[in-house]
Amino acid sequence: MTSAPQTLETVRIALDDRSYDILIGENLLGLPSTFQDLPKASAALIVSNTTVAPLYEAALKQALSDHFKVIHTVHLPDGEAYKDWVTLNLIFDGLLGHACDRKTVLFALGGGVVGDMTGFAAASFMRGVPFVQVPTTLLAQVDSSVGGKTAINHPLGKNMIGAFYQPQRVVCDLSVLKTLAPREVSAGLAEVIKYGPIADMAFLEWIDHNMDALKACDAQAMAHAVRRSCEIKADVVGQDEREAGLRAILNFGHTFGHAIEAGLGYGQWLHGEAVGCGMVMAAHLSQALGLIDAEFVQRLTDLIARAGLPVKGPVLDAADNAGHYLALMQHDKKSVAGDIQFVLIEGPGRARVSAAPEAVVRAVIDRCCA
Ligand code: NAD
Ligand code: GLY
Repeated sequence: MTSAPQTLETVRIALDDRSYDILIGENLLGLPSTFQDLPKASAALIVSNTTVAPLYEAALKQALSDHFKVIHTVHLPDGEAYKDWVTLNLIFDGLLGHACDRKTVLFALGGGVVGDMTGFAAASFMRGVPFVQVPTTLLAQVDSSVGGKTAINHPLGKNMIGAFYQPQRVVCDLSVLKTLAPREVSAGLAEVIKYGPIADMAFLEWIDHNMDALKACDAQAMAHAVRRSCEIKADVVGQDEREAGLRAILNFGHTFGHAIEAGLGYGQWLHGEAVGCGMVMAAHLSQALGLIDAEFVQRLTDLIARAGLPVKGPVLDAADNAGHYLALMQHDKKSVAGDIQFVLIEGPGRARVSAAPEAVVRAVIDRCCA
């Protein structure tokens, strides 16, 4: 028997005929009603990984059995290092091996890695099949499952191969966060903190006051963090779905962060850890360019450290560390004709995207890495 959700909140992503709801509440993934009114199909395919499937797949399968005649499953190996072509192909093997058709609905049950790969598979299988995000990490609930970015990595750059493809629904079941390792909770908090300096200083204040509760996965604190993060992301994505401009602010900390991930080898630092440290570096760059003061940089750095995240960047190359970061950052998707673009804080709660003089960036990297 499944318990009913104690609370159920809905955030709408408004994108014309691609609009959808994010459902937020406890005990959602085991409830048949969570999956009502999805596109009609006889088959569903749940994509998960070897860690998450044993925890939550049976409950999801049970809930889906009210809506689909057959439910297939594919289990991917776990980890950022597997976010690649070879692993993506396992999803296509499952779809084709089970003779799935273009009505088959895919369900991404897992963190951002499973979500990004399942979304990309859904975008490309038979030129597009419906999919539902069931994010099971904090990071995936507050960011990666929302907004339709799907991708795999390339050794030369993070998330380089992918598509914009919106899910039919996002199901944020807060109960599943209880089994996350503390390091994964911290990684998710990086993307929660991100929304403060770029969009909502009151939210940053709230995070500051509730950091202990957030780290302990307190249900009420998590509910607010997920809802407010999704609201901010929904607002940005609703204005700029395909990142013509505004949406790039959601990449605060990511230019440095992606360089850290690619430079160390995917999976060494968690994505959220790299983003946390990348936000510190981007804040220093904003200060070096005269946009914010040292007090703001220190406040953000302290908050990121309290979340349990690294605030010093790794040395990627003892001979020319800044040069190595710069070379990696040139592969960033925001780069224009080789000019690296940074998300800078131009004032509390406001961000913009622009290039920066190389000498200033080098000095910031030297200062921020140890
Ligand atoms: P992840 O998917 O690797 O999950 C982290 C770990 O937690 C994994 O070992 C996973 O198996 C485990 N796990 C997941 N749910 C669990 C649960 N409930 N209990 C116990 N263990 C659980 O990492 P992530 O941090 O969720 O996502 C990172 C990925 O998301 C990166 O690849 C990043 O590029 C991507 N991302 C995408 C977007 C986007 O807009 N599409 C945004 C941000 C990040
Ligand atoms: N995570 C950044 C974005 O969705 O645009």
